[in-house]
Amino acid sequence: MFPFLPITVAVIFPTLMALVSGDGHVNTCRSYCGNLTVDYPFSVRLGCGNPGFRDLLFCVNDVLMFHVISGSYRVIEIDYAYQALTLHDPHMSTCDSIVSGGKGNGFVLEPWRAPYLNPAPDNVFMLIGCTAQSPLFQGFPAKHLPCRNVSGMGCEEYYGCPAWDPGPKRVGSAHGASPPECCSVSFEAIRAINLTRLECEGYSSAYSLAPLKVAGPSGWSYGIRVAYTVPQNNAFCRSCEATGGTCGYDSVAAGDLCLCGGWNSTSNCDSGDKIVSSSNRGPLSLVDRVAGIW
Ligand SMILES: *[C@@H]1O[C@H](CO)[C@@H](O)[C@H](O)[C@H]1NC(C)=O
Ligand SMILES: *[C@@H]1O[C@H](CO)[C@@H](O)[C@H](O)[C@H]1NC(C)=O
Ligand SMILES: *[C@@H]1O[C@H](CO)[C@@H](O)[C@H](O)[C@H]1NC(C)=O
Ligand SMILES: *[C@@H]1O[C@H](CO)[C@@H](O)[C@H](O)[C@H]1NC(C)=O
Repeated sequence: MFPFLPITVAVIFPTLMALVSGDGHVNTCRSYCGNLTVDYPFSVRLGCGNPGFRDLLFCVNDVLMFHVISGSYRVIEIDYAYQALTLHDPHMSTCDSIVSGGKGNGFVLEPWRAPYLNPAPDNVFMLIGCTAQSPLFQGFPAKHLPCRNVSGMGCEEYYGCPAWDPGPKRVGSAHGASPPECCSVSFEAIRAINLTRLECEGYSSAYSLAPLKVAGPSGWSYGIRVAYTVPQNNAFCRSCEATGGTCGYDSVAAGDLCLCGGWNSTSNCDSGDKIVSSSNRGPLSLVDRVAGIW
């Protein structure tokens, strides 16, 4: 076989080079779902994006869904510049309607996601119809309920919405016998909006990107604004992209991978430290073998 090697190499090599470099490295990870662009650190494909956001987004019939332990939410927007996602839960109360019966998802994240994802600090959660026995009201003397305005948004103003017409039955008493009908909190304060555990009938969530005072509760945006943080390896990703690669990760070992269009690198597409996944021995192992013999 050795005498034929130069010919084999001569024939195969150009083909391989074409496969490896392609024409300008197509980004194999960016995708679109409905009218939303799904790009780093997110992905709807295994092995693409940042592993901190794996198994999070799913594109179902052109609707982008965000899935965590409390349930699935529709993604309304991904704001890459401000690093935030806007989510919608159809069973969330708004200014126009109160949804009770504990049907809403609330919002609870897997603990391992906490370093990467958290509701934005200026997002207010308004818990509706919680029982007097709710953990929310335990351990607080009546005058020091945990209910707070968050970034100028809270239940006092929310009560002014058409949904509450003609107003709440109980705004909370200083005697502690009956809690307020609505209690607003930041996510930070309770870490998990679990309607079952908190014994609440429903919830609303709002954020405001515009100056507040003008509009009042009908001008708030109802939805969950979640801030994300790209984990430390941003330098890895920048270096990968600078060499024409697409940032991804090893779906088994979860380590960073730079996807170079036909081959993967643990650093970037200019360096030779190729990774050949055992499940995917394609042309690359041939390159290695040929190059090795050569
Ligand atoms: C995306 O589509 C939704 C409806 O599917 C629409 O409400 C929204 O305005 C669209 N967003 C943009 C930026 O086009
Ligand atoms: C490169 O990594 C991606 C993501 O893990 C994987 O889907 C792909 O099969 C790998 N390609 C090769 C040639 O190993
Ligand atoms: C919410 O709380 C209930 C009761 O404590 C628990 O069974 C359930 O697993 C919790 N749900 C989530 C998503 O954490
Ligand atoms: C929340 O804001 C409203 C309106 O600005 C105000 O009346 C109310 O006292 C505030 N509540 C708390 C708990 O700070």
